[in-house]
Amino acid sequence: ARTAAVIPAAGRGVRLGPGAPKALRMLGGTPMLIHAVRAMAASRAVSLVVVVAPPDGVAEVKGLLGEYPLPERAEVLVVAGGATRQESVRLGLEALPETVSTVLVHDAARPLVPVDTVDAVIEAVRDGAPAVVPALPLADTVKEVEPADADGGPEPVLGTPERARLRAVQTPQGFDRDTLMRAHETVAVDGEGATDDAGMVEKLGAPVVVVPGHEEAFKVTRPLDLLLAEAVLARRRA
Ligand code: CTP
Ligand code: MG
Repeated sequence: ARTAAVIPAAGRGVRLGPGAPKALRMLGGTPMLIHAVRAMAASRAVSLVVVVAPPDGVAEVKGLLGEYPLPERAEVLVVAGGATRQESVRLGLEALPETVSTVLVHDAARPLVPVDTVDAVIEAVRDGAPAVVPALPLADTVKEVEPADADGGPEPVLGTPERARLRAVQTPQGFDRDTLMRAHETVAVDGEGATDDAGMVEKLGAPVVVVPGHEEAFKVTRPLDLLLAEAVLARRRA
């Protein structure tokens, strides 16, 4: 009945701009990945963290984890990631021992998620939900469009879903281990692969539920997000 967290951290961070792989960038003097690992290990329920490193960065990530040790009850494994997030998650799942029954999947790019959010997701899985997603209502209205070609011309609007029924999803997403494994073994996703594990479980036909997310669980994607993350850390340290 162990709970493990898989942390996909193998992305380049193209939208953040040139530099080291995103998960290895510094935030308040500590690599973003280390913040994310600590955020998972902060939950007393999490006894194993599997870090999915950039394929050419496994040794570097192991070195970092040696420099920034975890609390003693949490074990950490490092495996090499793949070309898409979906593939990286699958490689992380393959490293899980049989004893794990609940799995969290958490983006390294969400370094500041509070432990209360992590615990709420775990609790909902343990209460019987096969897939649990933390999410927040949207601030912006959303439109579906016919995407323009690369020229960036005007895009015809196809519709406007009712904002009150939409949620912006975060991580960690929590799963019954067998359900998530089955999704990753059987669900095919076109194009660049799934950006959301719960979406794969939906395609299996299994129920997925949303629990309240947290503002500080935002994803560091673009340069402005780094500024926000630095500000949140500074406020925590004040
Ligand atoms: N990820 C991964 N393996 C990949 C691609 C992404 O493990 N091949 C991880 C990222 O490291 C990140 C998470 O998936 O922690 C969410 O992805 P995203 O925010 O898109 O990060 P990147 O893919 O690195 O950024 P970008 O899309 O801007 O290149
Ligand atoms: Mg990406």
